Amino acid sequence: DILESSMTRSETDEVGGVLLPKRVCDRWDQIWNFRARPDDLLIATYAKAGTTWIQEIVDMIQHDGDTEKCKRATTYLRHPFIEWVLPGPFTEAMPSPRTLKTHLPVQLVPPSFWEQECKIIYVARNAKDNLVSYYHFHRMNKNMPAPGTWEEFLEKFMAGQVLWGCWYDHVKGWWDAKENHCILYLFYEDLKEVRGESGFIVLLLPFRVPNVVLDKIIHHTTFEIMKDNPMANYTFQPPAVMDHSISPFMRKGTVGDWKNHFTVAQNEKFDEDYRKKMSRTSLTFRMEL
Ligand code: A3P
Repeated sequence: DILESSMTRSETDEVGGVLLPKRVCDRWDQIWNFRARPDDLLIATYAKAGTTWIQEIVDMIQHDGDTEKCKRATTYLRHPFIEWVLPGPFTEAMPSPRTLKTHLPVQLVPPSFWEQECKIIYVARNAKDNLVSYYHFHRMNKNMPAPGTWEEFLEKFMAGQVLWGCWYDHVKGWWDAKENHCILYLFYEDLKEVRGESGFIVLLLPFRVPNVVLDKIIHHTTFEIMKDNPMANYTFQPPAVMDHSISPFMRKGTVGDWKNHFTVAQNEKFDEDYRKKMSRTSLTFRMEL
C-alpha cells in the first residue's frame, strides 16, 4: 500500500554470519573499535526483548526516580544505540558515566567492553513473544526489511535469518558469557511480575533503591505510562521511519500474546524445533505468567 511504499526498506548484510542492517556492516570496523570506558553501562538485548523498558528503569534508578530528568531527551539520545549511531563525536562527547545500548550477539560486542570490564545488563524475553513483537516491529519500522507474512517471518526467525541474528544463539551466548563477565541477566517475564519471587522489586534490590523511589520507578515504567511518554514511546521517530498507525511501538507489552498468533500446527513445529535448539542449556523461559 501507499504507506508501505513511502520509504525504501533497508538492505541487509552479514558480519561473522550474523544478519545485520547494511549500514551497520558498512561501518563495522568503526563499531568493532568502539572505545568503551570502565564506567560505561551497556544494556544488551535481542531486539524487542524489552530494551526500551529496561532503559527507562535504569534511567530512573540513575536519577533517583526524578521523572522530569528522565524526560530530558528521547530514549534514543539518552542511551545511544552503539551499532546504529555513528561511533565517534556523539558518544565521545557524552559525559561519564554513559549508558549505552546494543542488540549485538555476545561474540560481536566490541572487545573494548570486555577489556574495560564494563557492567552489562542483558534482558531476555521468551522466544514466542519476542518473535511476535519483532514481526509487528518489522511491519511498522521501515529500517527493517519487509517481514513477509506471519508464516514467512516465523520461518525466518526459526532459521535465524533475521536482523541481529539467531534468537537462540543470542540468548544462549549471553547466558554463557555471564559466567566470566559482570552481566546481570534479566527476564522480561520477571519484570512483568512486580512482586513475584524473581519479580521487579526483587530484581532492583541490588541497586539499593529507597521504597519511595521504587514506587515511582514502578509507576513511571508501567506499559501504560510509557506508552504515553513521548520521550520513551518512539513517536519521536519520523512517521516515514516508524509508522505507529500500522502497529504502535508500544504495542501490547504483555506475556503470552503469542497465543493470538500461532496456529496449533505452527506451535507444535516451533516447540519441537525449540527443544532441539535449547537442549544443551540451563536457560529456561516462561511463555506465560
Ligand atoms: P510488544 O510488541 O509485545 O508490545 P524493545 O524496546 O526491545 O524494542 O521491545 C519492545 C517491546 O517491549 C514491545 O513489546 C513493547 O510494547 C514492550 N514494552 C515497552 N515498554 C514496556 C513496559 N513498560 N512494560 C512492558 N512491556 C513494554
